[in-house]
Amino acid sequence: MNIFFKASLVILFVTNTKSSDLSEVLQEEITKYVENGESANVTKVIELLFDSLKDDHTNNNAYCVSCRVVANTAIAMRKSGADKPTLGDFITNMCKLFSFSGAKTCEGLIDISLNSWLYIIDNKNVTGERICSIRLQKRNCQDFTYVPWNINIPEGKSKILLKDNIVQVKKILQLTDVHYDPLYKPGSNANCGESVCCETVNGIPRSIDDAAGYWGDYHVCDMPWHSIQNVMEDIRNKHPDIERVYFTGDIIGHQTWATSVEGNSKTIRTFMQNMKQTFGDTPVYPILGNHEPHPVDLFPPLDTEEDISMQWLYEVIAEEWTQWLPKETKKTIRKGGYYSVLVKPGFRIIGINSNVCFTNNAWLVFDDRDPLGQLQWLADELFEAEKNDEVVHILSHVPPGDDECMTQWSHEFKRIIERFHGIISGQFNGHTHLDELKVFYAPNDNDRVINVAFNGGSVTTFVGFNPNYKIYYVGEQNQMVDYELWTYDLLQANNNTTPNWYKLYSFKKDFKLEDLNFNSFHNLLKRMSVDDSLLEKYQRFRVRNSSIIMQQPYDKEFLNNLHCDITSVEYKIPKQCKNFSRLS
Ligand SMILES: *[C@@H]1O[C@H](CO)[C@@H](O)[C@H](O)[C@H]1NC(C)=O
Ligand SMILES: *[C@@H]1O[C@H](CO)[C@@H](O)[C@H](O)[C@H]1NC(C)=O
Ligand SMILES: *[C@@H]1O[C@H](CO)[C@@H](O)[C@H](O)[C@H]1NC(C)=O
Ligand SMILES: *[C@@H]1O[C@H](CO)[C@@H](O)[C@H](O)[C@H]1NC(C)=O
Ligand SMILES: *[C@@H]1O[C@H](CO)[C@@H](O)[C@H](O)[C@H]1NC(C)=O
Ligand SMILES: [Zn+2]
Ligand SMILES: [Zn+2]
Repeated sequence: MNIFFKASLVILFVTNTKSSDLSEVLQEEITKYVENGESANVTKVIELLFDSLKDDHTNNNAYCVSCRVVANTAIAMRKSGADKPTLGDFITNMCKLFSFSGAKTCEGLIDISLNSWLYIIDNKNVTGERICSIRLQKRNCQDFTYVPWNINIPEGKSKILLKDNIVQVKKILQLTDVHYDPLYKPGSNANCGESVCCETVNGIPRSIDDAAGYWGDYHVCDMPWHSIQNVMEDIRNKHPDIERVYFTGDIIGHQTWATSVEGNSKTIRTFMQNMKQTFGDTPVYPILGNHEPHPVDLFPPLDTEEDISMQWLYEVIAEEWTQWLPKETKKTIRKGGYYSVLVKPGFRIIGINSNVCFTNNAWLVFDDRDPLGQLQWLADELFEAEKNDEVVHILSHVPPGDDECMTQWSHEFKRIIERFHGIISGQFNGHTHLDELKVFYAPNDNDRVINVAFNGGSVTTFVGFNPNYKIYYVGEQNQMVDYELWTYDLLQANNNTTPNWYKLYSFKKDFKLEDLNFNSFHNLLKRMSVDDSLLEKYQRFRVRNSSIIMQQPYDKEFLNNLHCDITSVEYKIPKQCKNFSRLS
């Protein structure tokens, strides 16, 4: 490294520690790179940036600065006439230089999604600040020009329809996050250095430990078809008496650089037909995951041109889902992949497409105000349901308050739950691949739980988990009575050649609860705040007793975070949660 170059940067940095200065140096070097194509100095500044900004150990500031400079440069290039290939090359090279992703992902994903980004840049005055504050919300990147929005929520207090006495109990199955990989190959390289391995193209493994397992693998790998079939068979054998199925999204694998309209459509249809074969007349209530679109994660407004529109996806699911849903639901499914169904008098299921709030959805940069008009629709649907004395289950892929769900969206969602909590007897999520809870408290009240959301874990092992499905026991109003999780030990299965499915836990029994009324969750959270063994148990169940994860040591801070995350239903920094005595 050129010593003068480094010295001048260090002097700059030491004399004035504001990150804006390094930001300027980075901007200069990137501008030079655009002119002469030499990236060596950019690499040096990146090193320095990530070395120097140790003010936060997670390097958030360095990420925000890098993101803003790259995004602002790309926008400036476009405004001054850069064509698609030039911009594609620039962003791809930056993605690689900053190691934002593996090379294959940088190249493939940018190639696939560039048209959408260009449309956004060409049709809105976007800034790097806006892009990065959304994309890197988790890293707390700021945009001081952001103007929050609100939906109209009907005045009044929630009707309380839920009753405590339960006579008859029924079973519901939840399946989620399948992530099927058609290219999975047992014995292939599971440790390949890309963001997904275990495929034929990943070559020969270096050691026996790196060979992809027959049923799946703890490395960054998705599921082969025979493993998905095996889950279906186990459910059919053990639970022929389920009343209905909730499928909470993510069918497509993590090969985000290799998706296509044809490929995704085929996989979605194949999986839906497989569910029909497995469950026969038992109704399935499916929703979309963020992996179903091509390009992945993108949910554009409805009036966009054909080459960037997601209408093809809505048409596919409108057709497939109405194998189970009434034909009338096609109307809203075609407008954004959401629906509301009266299952029987007094009980409704609302399936939403919460993927619009996922911070990877580039269209939030274009316009984040209630995408697809969906939250307003949800509030209106719940208002109607309340008038008609209907109890509701809400299915949503992205959990409330997820750190990658845009804050303003999750704030409005929380307002909706607060207004209608007394008619919502359960929420069901996926996406995190973790079997976890989100518990809503009444505003400014540390003692009253008003709603609970349950996450289904995942069928896929991605990353390090044992595959699972969940069975919920519900009363007449579909209030939660108990639930259990079924799984198998992946290492043992790969060793023995067959999965040995077993019930990992029964929630009521394992946490010693009298019932699963909202107040019982409050009592459990209070017990968890003073009893680490309960949180350790929650963690064990959360990852389905995966030996590879349970081996890793964790500290008090990890458990504190785990506790905090349960009551954090609106993501902000610092986190919004009910910590009781844990952290005081
Ligand atoms: C890199 O920086 C050094 C020191 O400022 C300079 O001499 C050199 O020309 C730069 N290289 C490029 C390719 O810009
Ligand atoms: C962007 O801003 C400029 C200057 O304020 C304005 O002339 C232009 O119409 C804007 N473009 C869009 C697409 O809003
Ligand atoms: C795999 O099988 C061998 C031989 O039966 C046994 O010794 C070993 O403990 C098994 N490993 C696992 C993870 O089940
Ligand atoms: C969890 O896995 C370990 C082995 O990794 C096993 O000894 C233990 O019994 C399992 N616990 C449960 C609750 O299944
Ligand atoms: C814990 O919660 C209390 C009350 O909600 C709050 O005042 C306090 O700042 C929280 N502590 C932490 C560390 O989050
Ligand atoms: Zn997923
Ligand atoms: Zn997902």
